Amino acid sequence: MTHEIAVIPGDGIGQEVTPAAVEVLEALDVDFDFVEGDAGDAVKAETGEALPQATRKMAADADATLFGAAGETAADVILPLREVVGSFANVRPAVSYPGLDAVQPDTDIVFVRENTEGVYSGIEDEITEGVRTLTRVVTEEASRDIAEFGFDYAKQNGFDDVTIAHKANVMRETDGLFLETAEAVAEERGADYDTALMDALAMHLVMHPEDYGVVICPNLAGDMLSDLAAGLVGGLGLLPSANVGEENALFEPVHGSAPDIAGQGVANPSAMILSAAMLLDHLGYDDEGDRVRAAVEGVLDEGPRTPDLGGDASTDEVTSAVLDRL
Ligand code: NAI
Ligand code: MG
Repeated sequence: MTHEIAVIPGDGIGQEVTPAAVEVLEALDVDFDFVEGDAGDAVKAETGEALPQATRKMAADADATLFGAAGETAADVILPLREVVGSFANVRPAVSYPGLDAVQPDTDIVFVRENTEGVYSGIEDEITEGVRTLTRVVTEEASRDIAEFGFDYAKQNGFDDVTIAHKANVMRETDGLFLETAEAVAEERGADYDTALMDALAMHLVMHPEDYGVVICPNLAGDMLSDLAAGLVGGLGLLPSANVGEENALFEPVHGSAPDIAGQGVANPSAMILSAAMLLDHLGYDDEGDRVRAAVEGVLDEGPRTPDLGGDASTDEVTSAVLDRL
């Protein structure tokens, strides 16, 4: 069976790490058909559109999409792309790998982030000069979808601890609905869980990440807490993510286009390659996904490493080392 994969490298280091992930997928005994699309700052400068219709269609028609990163146009690219694939869940594992000088070496957390609403509803207004508002949308349906996904994910992946992040003491209506819906899902399943106020949770994550497994979050909280966890395990170069829908999915590193290092050939390809491993899991190739993760883990442990991890290797050298281990 051939799987059609839309590949959208985007801008900056997206152009450097995306080919690395494709090389890794090509090295496996799985039949992929890759189609490449443009998106981001560069194509916008050329055509006026950050996400051309052809790329949109490519992602809609593919079995899955690999996306690198966009620059200034990130919101104009990734938000519509997440919609195109119908993804309601953003899954962001933060794992500390052996051999790396992680701030917190016992971190193994998966953030399950609501991916469609909250403060990223896009409903903003200038009501009068100097006063602007944002409408935070929370629906029972999206809250239920993300909670069900999170509890299922925890069960399937052997996590005992599930935490529901919220700020319902202040955002009583919106996060109140998020929290009560997620708690109802837990009750229905007879699942154990904790709840945590998201600000206090940020502190606990820094001090005791080992206490957490799956963390179910509203949209903005998931964005911020997962970046925080990236810092605990060694930086943004390590964090993959999946945007999962009912029928389709998109895989991307958590990082952006990293203009400060773009063009130098030194971006860490691990986050992107680990995103490809999540794509393999999603398509049912769990063994291949595990093999890719083991190869990346081996390279992180023994080197070569890119400068963000204290090494002096290039993107290509790290990618070759991963391929050798495969
Ligand atoms: P960023 O993730 O691009 O970079 C933050 C820092 O982490 C930089 O110092 C960068 O060099 C480093 N870094 C990130 N990925 C790395 C990797 N693979 N290897 C080594 N070092 C890495 O975030 P920043 O600086 O906030 O944003 C830069 C641009 O990226 C902006 O234009 C922003 O809009 C865009 N962006 C796009 C995203 C997306 O396409 N999904 C997500 C986040 C930001
Ligand atoms: Mg982010």
